[in-house]
Amino acid sequence: MCESTARSRVSAVTEPSVLHDTKTAYDAVATLYAELFGDVLKIKPMERALLTTFAELVQRHNAGPVADIGCGPGHVTAHMNALGPNTFGIDLSSEMVALARHAYPDVRFDEGSMTALDIADGVLGGILALYSVIHTPPGQLPVVFTEFQRVLAPGGYLLLGFFAGDDRLPQEFDHKVTAAYRWSPDSLADLLRQAGFVEVARLLREPHEGERFLQAHLLVRKEP
Ligand SMILES: C[S@@+](CC[C@H](N)C(=O)[O-])C[C@H]1O[C@@H](n2cnc3c(N)ncnc32)[C@H](O)[C@@H]1O
Repeated sequence: MCESTARSRVSAVTEPSVLHDTKTAYDAVATLYAELFGDVLKIKPMERALLTTFAELVQRHNAGPVADIGCGPGHVTAHMNALGPNTFGIDLSSEMVALARHAYPDVRFDEGSMTALDIADGVLGGILALYSVIHTPPGQLPVVFTEFQRVLAPGGYLLLGFFAGDDRLPQEFDHKVTAAYRWSPDSLADLLRQAGFVEVARLLREPHEGERFLQAHLLVRKEP
């Protein structure tokens, strides 16, 4: 058993109940989520532009594949693959992974948790984490960012998507699936800096019709 697999097994024993609750909640809504959001990039030109930028930066740096962590039904994973970088998806929810494999049979999808990735040190050229770290209790987020640092190659890129809040402190909100938190971009950027990331860019856009909050993206990089 490789070291990282051993770490995942240990984590499976010790992982907090929040992971179980998140997995169960997303398993229950996976089909509906895929129906509602599987095509959403078509109406999000700014996010498409950001993903295109991310793909170009990752390919130029050429340091390894991209992991889409908390990939849900796999639409962004497939989109990133089509842009060029070799991209695979990881999700806590086995139902999400099953839907993603069915919809995109040529793309790799694995079950796993961002809190203990079954990935060797320093092998990824990029990480996408779009609206997935929102479910991590704020106190545990440093663990996740340390894990992202571990698996990224030097100079590798991380793109985070989340709902923006105004307060310095993260705010829990009434997410329809399970417990989730909004972050001010400055607070999340501070936390990323403390984990060793360097900010490259950020995007803040007003909510579209049907969205409730400002939508934020932070693009950061591990020190080259
Ligand atoms: C709001 S959905 C976002 C899905 C996709 N990234 C998107 O942008 O549509 C959040 C996803 O993150 C996954 N997730 C939450 N916590 C996770 C964890 N600790 N590790 C891996 N996936 C997680 C959930 O199972 C769910 O599929």
